[in-house]
Amino acid sequence: MKETLVLKVDSQKPEIEKIRIAANFIKKGGLVAFPTETVYGLGADALNKNAVLVLFEAKKRPLDNPPIIHVENMGDVYRLTKRVSYKAERLMSEFWPGPLTLIFKRSEIVPDVTVAGLDTIAIRMPNHNVALALIRESECPIAAPSANLAGKPSPTTAKHVLDDLEGSIDAILDAGPTCIGVESTVLDMTVDPPQILRPGGTPYEVLKKILGEVKLHPIAVAEKQLSIEKARSPGLRHRHYAPKADIIVVEGALSVVVAKIKELAEASRREGKRVGVLATDETVAFYRADVVKSLGSRNDFVVIAKNLFRLLREFDSEGVDIIIAEGVPLEGLGLAVMNRLRKASGYNIIKVGDR
Ligand code: TXA
Ligand code: MG
Repeated sequence: MKETLVLKVDSQKPEIEKIRIAANFIKKGGLVAFPTETVYGLGADALNKNAVLVLFEAKKRPLDNPPIIHVENMGDVYRLTKRVSYKAERLMSEFWPGPLTLIFKRSEIVPDVTVAGLDTIAIRMPNHNVALALIRESECPIAAPSANLAGKPSPTTAKHVLDDLEGSIDAILDAGPTCIGVESTVLDMTVDPPQILRPGGTPYEVLKKILGEVKLHPIAVAEKQLSIEKARSPGLRHRHYAPKADIIVVEGALSVVVAKIKELAEASRREGKRVGVLATDETVAFYRADVVKSLGSRNDFVVIAKNLFRLLREFDSEGVDIIIAEGVPLEGLGLAVMNRLRKASGYNIIKVGDR
């Protein structure tokens, strides 16, 4: 155990002295958690292989699942990659800084461990002044997976990070809750048309408008566990986002979903289980269970995405045995939300009728 230094910073105008303290840890091969616009990341110098190894260890992350490399200038993208296509340049100018990660062929300067031995690399420029200042002051690209223990829901507050990692990281920059709440979209630019490996903060529809053609990898919209070639989407094979409680996701027409959830909640209660229901504003009043929480209005996926991981963690602290969750439509940020929920449930999905 080491002491984890908590540095509270202003999210808009981060205090430079605090950023420098954090950057010094990174320069010395240490680990610093920091906010991005999506979720908190756990950062290490991407070009220092020992630092990256310590990063994997702290997260208890399998070594075959590479992190995303965070940059704050375009020059680093060219240094870290072999070739940047016209399409990729277009996307970077349109969406960076922002919640879009691009996969490129990687250059020789990247240590093998940073990319889990792959010949590709995932890069993004985060849209958060604290993250950008930290990268700048550290004078290196920063490898940063989400700052949770492997398998847990991603952290959207500094408290979530400390709950998982206090004592095993050097410092955290605490700038309050993150804005988007689900991770970046991962888009593979090594294939044509580009393919979404993980839906996230930049919606499919928005990418399609710019690219014309963009594919969704089957795993991004999977309704069951798929086996998948390692090289294409390494992390997607691992269990993820899961709270301690079991999860059932109920999908279909809303009135039928509500009826089904009531029935499942009652059955679990009779089995002596402590039951949680993950509802929405429109339905929250219909349920009786030990803990009922609303993700937000079904008309506002931005709010739903922002609340998802926090609520999954809250169910755990309230000690429920089972979480029964409403599905939401697969549109906009809804696609990222459903990807996380389905995965968190271990694809324990019940589909009910359309009407
Ligand atoms: O919003 C985010 O993306 C957050 C914040 C901290 O930036 N980061 C994040 O990182 O979610 P992580 O490591 O938890 O997720 C990275 C995802 C994993 O699914 C990983 O398998 C995939 O990106 N990935 C990384 N390198 C890859 C590569 N070369 N090819 C394909 N997928 C890759
Ligand atoms: Mg993660």
